[in-house]
Amino acid sequence: MDAKVFEFFTALLERVSGISYTTGKEYLIESRLNELALTLGYKDLSDLYQAITKKGADLKLLNEIIDALTTNETYFFRDYHPFETLKTHILPELFKKRERERKITIWSAGCSTGQEPYSIAMLLLEHFSLYLQKYRVYILGTDISAKCLEKAKKGIYNQIEINRGLPINFLVRYFKQDGAHWCINDNVKKLVKFERVNLLEASKKIFEKFDLILCRYVLIYFSDEVKKKVLTELWKMLNPGGYLLLGATEIPALSFSDMEKKIIGKTVCYRKKD
Ligand SMILES: C[S@@+](CC[C@H](N)C(=O)[O-])C[C@H]1O[C@@H](n2cnc3c(N)ncnc32)[C@H](O)[C@@H]1O
Repeated sequence: MDAKVFEFFTALLERVSGISYTTGKEYLIESRLNELALTLGYKDLSDLYQAITKKGADLKLLNEIIDALTTNETYFFRDYHPFETLKTHILPELFKKRERERKITIWSAGCSTGQEPYSIAMLLLEHFSLYLQKYRVYILGTDISAKCLEKAKKGIYNQIEINRGLPINFLVRYFKQDGAHWCINDNVKKLVKFERVNLLEASKKIFEKFDLILCRYVLIYFSDEVKKKVLTELWKMLNPGGYLLLGATEIPALSFSDMEKKIIGKTVCYRKKD
């Protein structure tokens, strides 16, 4: 791929989403955008590039480019141990802490096709059903990719997606089979609300604060500068006593005076001091 085409698309993507593709990833950009160009009826990627540089990209095209260039890898109960820690430590602590308000707010920031927020919803139904009767529990799943959110809202997964991480008893209890697909039950779905939110401008879109924020395997795609900016925003949106969970190998780009690192079992999490 021509260097100027690579630079054009990577600069565009970084400006709108914060995602930073370093040199060496040309093959990835090329194959993803070539496919998009053909789907949209262009001859090839350079044809798409010519059209955009001549006429600009409208919002729809921009969103298609974002959809094509985001990495949406996810699966149910990803890494497993954070969900075990949620079950044994974090959620019991939060329910106790919120005894008076009887409200818990959870945000899966960069939720891709919904497996992460639905895993939390199933965990709550499975182990905290009594609390669900007494508390208002609100799980928000957000992503920049409209295509991912469309799938997340439907809550329909194929066999390969189901085979990745979902314990069999959860499949039996929380899904209905429909031909080759599995549909998540309404009682799981109704705990989760999905919204399109770009993390670069999250505080302009989301006005509530959260007791638990999961932002796993999202910041790794950003430059250091964007990581710091987004982390600062996320931290502001966390309630005192709340927890932030990053991906297993991720280290926060910044630390704050009220940030307490906790290691619970295999899970590293960040608690906001009261
Ligand atoms: C690798 S997936 C991780 C999904 C899930 N958190 C997990 O750990 O399984 C990263 C997600 O972050 C989203 N993302 C990337 N940049 C974003 C941004 N600026 N705002 C919101 N979401 C973004 C991508 O669309 C993608 O779905």
